[in-house]
Amino acid sequence: MSPTLDQHHPQIEFDPNDGLALLEGKGQPVTAKYGIPLAVLIELTHKCPLQCPYCSNPVEMERARNELTTQEWKRVLDELADIGVLQVHFSGGEPTARKDIVELVQHATDCDLYTNLITSAVLLNREKLAQLADAGLSHIQISFQGSDATKADRVAGFRNAHAKKHEVARWARELDLPLTVNAVMHRQNLDQLEDIIAMAVDMDADRIEVANVQYYGWALKNRAALMPTIAQIDRATQVVEDARERLKGILDIDFVIPDYYAERPKKCMGGWGRQFFNITPSGKVLPCHAAETITELDFLSVRSNHSIAWIWQNSDAFNRYRGTGWMPEPCQSCAFKEIDFGGCRCQAFALTGSADNTDPACALSPYHSATFKTAETEAETGATRFIYRNFAGGTLEAEPQDGK
Ligand code: SF4
Ligand code: FES
Repeated sequence: MSPTLDQHHPQIEFDPNDGLALLEGKGQPVTAKYGIPLAVLIELTHKCPLQCPYCSNPVEMERARNELTTQEWKRVLDELADIGVLQVHFSGGEPTARKDIVELVQHATDCDLYTNLITSAVLLNREKLAQLADAGLSHIQISFQGSDATKADRVAGFRNAHAKKHEVARWARELDLPLTVNAVMHRQNLDQLEDIIAMAVDMDADRIEVANVQYYGWALKNRAALMPTIAQIDRATQVVEDARERLKGILDIDFVIPDYYAERPKKCMGGWGRQFFNITPSGKVLPCHAAETITELDFLSVRSNHSIAWIWQNSDAFNRYRGTGWMPEPCQSCAFKEIDFGGCRCQAFALTGSADNTDPACALSPYHSATFKTAETEAETGATRFIYRNFAGGTLEAEPQDGK
């Protein structure tokens, strides 16, 4: 018998602060209900010296020749500030691979935007970081691939990356930049979680994001090498709970379990087209960073003759999965439909071939048990070799030598 949600989540209630949910179904046109998000992710480039096998960029990455120019990005920043955005996350690829990164941060500061740099850090030197701080950078988020250099450099596919990241983290704190450690976790590094949290404390980070890999794009290609076991997830959950208790007031810890092992899906992006959009290197405005994996959708660009606000409010791609009207059963008659909005559209597409379906992470999805079984089976395979991210569509890691 399939489990019921009440059996598993009797304690979950509607969030009274989620005012957007309350507006739905009240007879307004759907486009009138969604204010512009306060924070926007802009992906300046897909270029990156690292080759992480779980990269959230699409497998078909954008070539540098298609990237928005400095002037176009400045116009985007102006427009974002004009429509009420308060915060911009500069991301990529590796955003510091753009020669104009300091100029763009300065421009965002001049527009009164709060700025966050999401970086692998390996292209930064102290002078460049100081220039960014002088340009008004408000916050830096550095990714780490593990707690020891050998493993971390192997995951990143980049020699000496780990040591360089430590160095940049130290400079960041010397320059008084608030620091978040971003740790993407999977089967091959989850057992280092305790050490990674300790590392974040040693670096004087304010926050650590313990992000379990999400399986679309590059990570889907690498799923057998990345999928954790249930035992690892159980232990990681305990490690996080203990650390949260121990490190209250010292380190904030964000942690989301991989939803292949969950019974209800995550409220991905806060619900499609409700709280988030990002802009790709060539200027496409997307409802989530992985949305281009849904090949049946077309996304408008800031190079079109539409404003960003128009694209957000009126474009087909944003409206396709907004609210609850699009939902199939079992979501349509489910008490949780305004809590998780049917889960993740990208995951539904990746695992069922259609983004119209309920996310298979949900125990009520007809695909759920097969998804769970796949996760369990792949986690036990012992596959370790990665397909590294690159513009050629990926390169299989060399066979390990000398028992390494
Ligand atoms: Fe209900 Fe759909 Fe959410 Fe599952 S994904 S809990 S069926 S709304
Ligand atoms: Fe795209 Fe979840 S990652 S909707």
